[in-house]
Parts: sequence; C-alpha cells; structure tokens
Amino acid sequence: MQKNPMFLGEKVYLVPIESQHLEVYYEKLQEASYDSCFYTGSKKIITMAQLKAYVERIEVDNERLDLFIVSQKADEIVGEVVLNDIDFENRCSSIRIALFLDENFNQGYGSEAMALTVNYGFGMFNLNRIELEVYAYNERAIHVYKKLGFKEEGICRQCLYFNHAYHDAYRMSILSQEYKGLNPS
Ligand SMILES: CC(C)(COP(=O)(O)OP(=O)(O)OC[C@H]1O[C@@H](n2cnc3c(N)ncnc32)[C@H](O)[C@@H]1OP(=O)(O)O)[C@@H](O)C(=O)NCCC(=O)NCCS
Repeated sequence: MQKNPMFLGEKVYLVPIESQHLEVYYEKLQEASYDSCFYTGSKKIITMAQLKAYVERIEVDNERLDLFIVSQKADEIVGEVVLNDIDFENRCSSIRIALFLDENFNQGYGSEAMALTVNYGFGMFNLNRIELEVYAYNERAIHVYKKLGFKEEGICRQCLYFNHAYHDAYRMSILSQEYKGLNPS
C-alpha cells in the first residue's frame, strides 16, 4: 500500500480507508477478537452490505479521517484509527482506535498510530482539541492516552452495557498547546 510520509512511523504506517479495501476490511472485522470488541464496546455484527454503505459514506466525508493501521514488519492491516466528528469551526475532533487481534496488542502499534494521527490532527487540520472516550476497565488504553498527553475530564457513569454488566467511561482530551509543549518542533 502507498506510504504517505505524514503517516509513516517506525512500526506502523497509516492508510486512508477506501472502497478498494472493502473485502480486506470486512475480513479484518470478522476476525476481530472478543477482547478487541469488549474494549471498544462494539456489539453489532456488521454485514458486507452495511460495511459497503459505511465505507462509501466515510470516504467522501470531509469531517472525518479513517485510517488503517498497517504493520511495517508484515505489511498487514492490524487495526484502524479514526478522527471523527471533526468540527473545523471550533477546531475540535474525536479520535478512536482499535487493533483487531490480541496478538498485536502491546507491540507499540497503538501508541505509534495514535501519535501519528494526533500529530496530523494538530499539524494539518489545525485542531485545538482532540477528545476521546475510554471504558474504565481499559487500563492499557488509558495508559497509552495519558502517555501521549491526554487528560481525564470526567466520568460517564454506566454508559456502556456489555455482556450483562454496566460500565463507566472516562472522557479524555488533549489541547494543541499541551501537545506542542510535549512535542516541541
Ligand atoms: C488500546 C490499544 C490501542 C493500545 O495499543 P497497543 O499497541 O496495544 O499498545 P502499545 O504497545 O502501544 O502500548 C501499551 C502500553 O500500555 C502498557 N500496558 C499494557 N497493559 C496494561 C495494563 N493492563 N494496564 C496499564 N498499562 C498497560 C504497556 O506496558 C505499554 O506501556 P509503555 O508504552 O509505557 O511501555 C490496543 O491495545 C487496542 O486496540 N486494544 C483493543 C481495542 C481498544 O482498547 N481500543 C481503545 C478503545 S478506547
């Protein structure tokens, strides 16, 4: 796949998700582990027709940037990271990330993919704020977000119902000035 220098890391590179990737995207979502779904709170079974409609919608939507995370080593898609609900007027956006398989966790892929995407959001979209929601039981993700400079803002109590139990989520964010303080050019 084509490598854009802005999305090139040491362990991963990022590639915009397009219709040409539909088959492989569907395959990866079908393969996604229970843990990956639990940590993201994903409960829906997505059909090919739904995914096709979704990809056709996102590839022309200027208020989001959907990227595959590709491992440099195997040149294989391992996850996705998305800037969504980009609000250019208020210069803010949400971000979400998921690696599809447990075997790819804890290898530095997620940290690098988040860092590349946050850097792009602040550096190319001129965002002032990037926010996310993370379930309280997702200690690895919380660690990664704090490492990158995200700060906790508050708790959404019992906002997820997953497999017979309610769970809290934290809202976290990072501001442009905080990012620049941590990453001086
Ligand atoms: C969360 C996620 C993106 C992180 O990416 P990753 O590639 O697995 O993580 P990395 O290898 O980059 O970094 C993991 C870090 O967390 C630490 N960690 C691992 N398990 C941990 C735990 N249970 N508690 C606290 N820290 C933990 C590691 O020691 C490492 O720390 P370091 O970078 O300071 O050495 C990825 O695991 C994932 O997609 N998980 C499933 C879906 C998900 O949780 N998405 C986020 C929803 S908000």
